[in-house]
Amino acid sequence: MHNPIIVTGGAGFIGSNFVLQWLEQEKRDVVNLDRLTYAGNLGNLASLQGNTRHHFVAGDICDRPLVAQLLQEFRPSAIVHFAAESHVDRSIVGPEEFVRTNVNGTFALLEEARQYWLNLGDEQKNLFRFLHVSTDEVYGSLGPADAPFSETSRYAPNSPYAASKAASDHLVRAYFHTYGLPTITTNCSNNYGPHQFPEKLIPLMILNALKGEPLPVYGNGENVRDWLYVGDHCQGIRLALQKGNSGETYNFGGCSERRNIDLVHTLCTVLDELLPQSRFIPHRGLIKFVTDRPGHDWRYAVDISKSSRELGFSPVESFESGLRKTVAWYLKNRAWVETVTSGSYRDWIDLQYRDRKSTGGGE
Ligand code: NAD
Ligand code: TYD
Repeated sequence: MHNPIIVTGGAGFIGSNFVLQWLEQEKRDVVNLDRLTYAGNLGNLASLQGNTRHHFVAGDICDRPLVAQLLQEFRPSAIVHFAAESHVDRSIVGPEEFVRTNVNGTFALLEEARQYWLNLGDEQKNLFRFLHVSTDEVYGSLGPADAPFSETSRYAPNSPYAASKAASDHLVRAYFHTYGLPTITTNCSNNYGPHQFPEKLIPLMILNALKGEPLPVYGNGENVRDWLYVGDHCQGIRLALQKGNSGETYNFGGCSERRNIDLVHTLCTVLDELLPQSRFIPHRGLIKFVTDRPGHDWRYAVDISKSSRELGFSPVESFESGLRKTVAWYLKNRAWVETVTSGSYRDWIDLQYRDRKSTGGGE
């Protein structure tokens, strides 16, 4: 009998992909603690209905008595911590929730994990891992000629989201150095793939294009992001759990830097091909440049040599193959799209894009 792992935020985008991959590839059960915010969706886990290896618990990571109870009841061998507020634009409009979940929530988990871990027997103590899933955005913004971020890059977060993740990374680091809690932190670049909430660039553009609505590119579209397919990120996290050393950090990325405008052009070409009957062809005609995001980081890029060397991390999908899979998934899963875009989603889109001035078309 293997002790289960606790996953936090496993009803969200990356967490749900991770839970599905884990249950397919690994032996240990999953206890999935998720508050089901706007970004959490049990529909992401529908294929697990009746699967006795998945135990879903609706609850908040800030609820310390609940976390303590789950640790005592399930005696996990690891915690994989995804739960977070994750959207930069929302952090600009309302940063408080980011501090609550990302900072206080991570603190609550660390404190309860420490109490639990201290009382384990020696062997279980050595095997236990607290794996904290973080972002490359903690390192700030790169210029065109700068080397990609590495595990030793200076922390320089620029958005409230990035600052809250940086704070949580520092707490995790301190719990290793001060208390010896066996932590691992992973910092990853932009993910994309199935189940991503359509407030983020790629799914937002796909859904707008399907409806013939404007494709809002911030600023001049020259900001650069590195893109990693979500399944490859999940694979990396599993490798970090298996082979990573406690106290270490590992960076993950797709070695696929793209300017936003180039990404949107590629996406429009894929949509033109997969939807030959669409009356919105060529989809690139829908591109609109709009007012920039305040404090918009210019470039992210990640050096993955440490995770490649020490963990054997190597992304399987190219950006082009991953993007095609992603578009195909959104085209096939219209019911999922309907569910997540009803109600409060429309309020967010209205608030976020209503007053963003159009600064021109994309052609
Ligand atoms: P997401 O917003 O899609 O999902 C977050 C999940 O956490 C949701 O299911 C939500 O219900 C849950 N949650 C939020 N607050 C909670 C709380 N207080 N208690 C319990 N559950 C709560 O996020 P995502 O894109 O899947 O990101 C997951 C993690 O990966 C985050 O920590 C994020 O910072 C990190 N990350 C994301 C990306 C990316 O490109 N999406 C890249 C690198 C790192
Ligand atoms: P996003 O998906 O929000 O991820 P992050 O801000 O964490 O990198 O945005 C990716 C890039 O796309 C970022 O440079 C902002 C830009 N962007 C747009 O141009 N238009 C949009 O409507 C959105 C949501 C993002």
